[in-house]
Amino acid sequence: MARRCLSIILAAGEGTRMRSSKSKVLHEVAGLAMIRHVVRAAREAGSDAIALVVGRDGTSVAEAARREIGTVAAFEQTERLGTGHAVLAARAAMAEGFDDVLVLFGDTPLIGVGTLARARATLAEGADVCVVGFRPADPTGYGRLIEAGGELLAIREEKDADADERRVGFCNAGVMAFRGDDALAMLDRIGNDNAKGEYYLTDLVAVARAAGRSVRAIEADANEVLGVNTREELAAVEALWQAARRRQVMLAGVTLQDPSSVFLSHDTVLEADVFVEPQVVFGPGVRVASGATIHAFSHMEGCDVGPGASVGPFARLRPGTELAQGAKVGNFCEVKNSEIGAGAKVNHLSYVGDTSVGAAANIGAGTITCNYDGALKHRTEIGAGSFIGSNSALVAPVRVGEGAYVGTGSVVTDDVPDGALAIARERQVTKPGRGREIIERNKAAKAARSATKD
Ligand code: UD1
Ligand code: CA
Repeated sequence: MARRCLSIILAAGEGTRMRSSKSKVLHEVAGLAMIRHVVRAAREAGSDAIALVVGRDGTSVAEAARREIGTVAAFEQTERLGTGHAVLAARAAMAEGFDDVLVLFGDTPLIGVGTLARARATLAEGADVCVVGFRPADPTGYGRLIEAGGELLAIREEKDADADERRVGFCNAGVMAFRGDDALAMLDRIGNDNAKGEYYLTDLVAVARAAGRSVRAIEADANEVLGVNTREELAAVEALWQAARRRQVMLAGVTLQDPSSVFLSHDTVLEADVFVEPQVVFGPGVRVASGATIHAFSHMEGCDVGPGASVGPFARLRPGTELAQGAKVGNFCEVKNSEIGAGAKVNHLSYVGDTSVGAAANIGAGTITCNYDGALKHRTEIGAGSFIGSNSALVAPVRVGEGAYVGTGSVVTDDVPDGALAIARERQVTKPGRGREIIERNKAAKAARSATKD
């Protein structure tokens, strides 16, 4: 029988050092709120239920967690009396009866499924409590794992530790796993007789040992258990996440010419043989199919780039953009909520919004779809194989038919039938000799002005 698991995620901290109007765990790493990273890891580690412990203004945190998994149960810790007290806020969840209880921190977003699985495996092998430890470069501030003869005896918080204990480099990461049937009895024995006057979850180790339970520690990579307390630490965690994901996509067959300048999101999908030039930002919701090239300085979000398509340099693809096979969106173009058909080209300085562009159509330089009338958005349809002359404005709603031709500089307000030519601009007027006259007149005016200055 599979062991049933409850994950309790602590997120009642105030996060004052972020100096933010929003809760710390709502700050994003790779475009996803930290709390969602933790909920995701808990789910992937096989949690059957997730309990979230929040502070007084926890509604938005609970909402974010539920966008990840709708069934997350939220518990309010009204007074912040320590991590042991926080876990007990989820008493009702524990009382439902689980084999494994995992405790995670909402501000530790890089926690890996592998580590959670190892902690659960340690319980399955017979341990009653499993503590996840790590060896930070500087242990100051962390709880120290006090071991003797290979056994974990206690966790000593920095403020309660003596000089010898402070020299211990093996620290508490904050993640803990314990046996569910025994959890409440053990947690209820934790007191607050310590330097901070708090109920420390870490005292569970000494309590469990005193009751004859077996306690074990496992070690995790220090990067994985990095907690975020400040914006600087948020940036450090972001950098670690990015580095790890870039490595992953390259191993999966994607070329990143300058990996450190490419920014990925939590859900970016790049197929094998995608080629990415330097300085590219993949915002949330981007998929790029095999053989596509993303040229330098492109910014993309919520879009789907087809096989062999080409984006940029300096292109902006906004949500709802779909490029079919071999489509091209070139420099200084912005595309929003539009489908660009197979082999179609939007190559220079264009805005294409709320538009469908048929296969092999050519959108000339500087074409603008005027999709907004100040109140409503309207659609533009551009037929397959059509040609839109440079510097044209297509005033939506409007349809340019298949194989139609729009003359350069047109302002198209009426539909253009299939195969038709539309020219919507003034005819040229040419006046012989008049050009030279104007140039000479202007030069004379300039000379007169500098003469009066002297
Ligand atoms: C805690 C551990 C310490 C460990 C360190 C790792 C305890 C007593 N200490 O210390 O051994 O090395 O994490 O980073 O557990 N929280 C609540 N309610 C509370 C108190 C805390 O929800 O009343 C939440 C916080 O939001 C945070 C987490 O618990 O997500 C950890 O709390 P924090 O105060 O940061 O613990 P540390 O002192 O860092
Ligand atoms: Ca902390």
